[in-house]
Amino acid sequence: MGSVRLNLLLILVLAGMIGVQWLLLPDPSRRNWEFLPDMVESPARGAQAPVPTLADGTVVDLRPPPGSVAKGFIPLQYPATPEGALLAGRELVNHIPVDDSDEVTRGAFVYATFCTVCHGAGGHGDGTATQLGVPPPPSLLADHAMEMSDGQMYHVVSLGQANMASYASQVTRDDRWRVINYIRALQRAPEAPPPLEAAEALREEPSEVAAEGNPEGT
Ligand code: HEC
Repeated sequence: MGSVRLNLLLILVLAGMIGVQWLLLPDPSRRNWEFLPDMVESPARGAQAPVPTLADGTVVDLRPPPGSVAKGFIPLQYPATPEGALLAGRELVNHIPVDDSDEVTRGAFVYATFCTVCHGAGGHGDGTATQLGVPPPPSLLADHAMEMSDGQMYHVVSLGQANMASYASQVTRDDRWRVINYIRALQRAPEAPPPLEAAEALREEPSEVAAEGNPEGT
């Protein structure tokens, strides 16, 4: 008897729920009820929307405070002038080991990809672009380049020099140091064939030290 009464009760509860559901007439196309919405909806601001003005007329200044640096961005604070290059040459230190064959191979790959077209495979300034009207660069084996410090070369690759444009957007900071190490290897052993074959192999199989994008800007 007890279980029949319980079933009746459950049937009544079910009927009640269906009744309430029907009374509320749920409409999926309409917003649901919100209880204490608080900060559920924040004012959405478009990327190019006008700068907001407060009730008292103050214009909200959304510019970052002077001296702030975006996360992950490492500024290169040298001016793009010969003096800036000399200063960078005195202050910047190449932190990529010169004797790590993986690093040098990566440097060769960067050189083959971005520099050979003008500087030539052997660094003599006779790349294919020079036959097509691009002013030939000086030899990287000449005294001037031999005497340049790594930091000065880094300045050239990052900010350009005369007829050479900046390669900051194509070559990551670490790759710039690696390619400089490769130029040094060329300068030390100009007769040895550049390990472009190794670099070529890298095209199929990216090395451990392959570029990781360029989040750090210039
Ligand atoms: C579009 C052609 C071009 C490309 C590509 C190029 N360079 Fe240059 N580079 C030049 C020219 C031209 C100069 C000489 C600029 C001048 O007159 O001072 C130069 C100068 C340099 C110098 C200074 C040499 C010196 O004795 O003053 C270095 C170092 C250098 N380049 C490295 C690189 C590296 C590393 C790459 C690849 C990431 C590269 N360049 C790619 C054209 C190029």
